[in-house]
Amino acid sequence: MLQVDGLSVRYGPVQALRGVSFTAEDGVITTVLGANGAGKTTLLRTLSGLVRTHEGTATFDGEPLIGKDPETIARMGIAHVPEGRGVIAELTVDEHLRLGTLSRVPRSERRTAIEDVYGLFPPLESRRHRHAATLSGGERQMLVIARALVSRPRLLLLDEPSLGLAPIVTAQTMATIRQLTSREGIGAVLVEQNARSALSVADWAVVLNLGQVVLADRPERLTADADLRHHYLGF
Ligand SMILES: Nc1ncnc2c1ncn2[C@@H]1O[C@H](COP(=O)(O)OP(=O)(O)OP(=O)(O)O)[C@@H](O)[C@H]1O
Ligand SMILES: [Mg+2]
Repeated sequence: MLQVDGLSVRYGPVQALRGVSFTAEDGVITTVLGANGAGKTTLLRTLSGLVRTHEGTATFDGEPLIGKDPETIARMGIAHVPEGRGVIAELTVDEHLRLGTLSRVPRSERRTAIEDVYGLFPPLESRRHRHAATLSGGERQMLVIARALVSRPRLLLLDEPSLGLAPIVTAQTMATIRQLTSREGIGAVLVEQNARSALSVADWAVVLNLGQVVLADRPERLTADADLRHHYLGF
């Protein structure tokens, strides 16, 4: 579904990505792991059209992504959930979801799309008229994922959804991502510094180091290799 080939990005003198290649499929969680500054956010921002590059290719169902603007890429069915759980404090949960439907969902189907997403996130449904400012960290993470899902994407790009969440809330978030991919058939590229929890749900793992793919393997293989874990994953 997503095919990335030889992607390189530089910010002036800083080479953030060097010839990155990998694929991500429908119904599968592909986790991209790596330390601070490895290039994980740059990779997601390049795939969603926020960072420009001339080097390498990325296609979604055969259609090129590089060179397209973020709105076009979102309309193709790729939803980016950025780092930091950005919500608009004075909008309610329901208003966030209504905004999420605008790009891709026909007007007559918007309410249904929102109610479908509430079905996946009961805690959001019970808070639908609350302002985002009143939500906990875990609920905000749910809301930004829900806002992406309400556009009925085929591929979710998730940037460090576990950052700053308590372990139990992280586990719930990972379980939700697992459920979305297995049950709804959505593909996910899950970027994480928290390698242990990402590997616990992923189907395939790609490790970035200084902008380069140093390893791509099944999660069990990474978890089982103590040297690798110490060297690249920090646990
Ligand atoms: N806008 C920018 N301008 C210049 N350099 C940047 C910019 N954004 C990122 N970089 C640099 O590019 C490299 C990759 O950064 P990136 O944010 O993609 O890494 P990351 O893996 O997401 O890190 P983190 O785990 O801290 O979120 C780093 O060296 C970073 O300092
Ligand atoms: Mg980052």
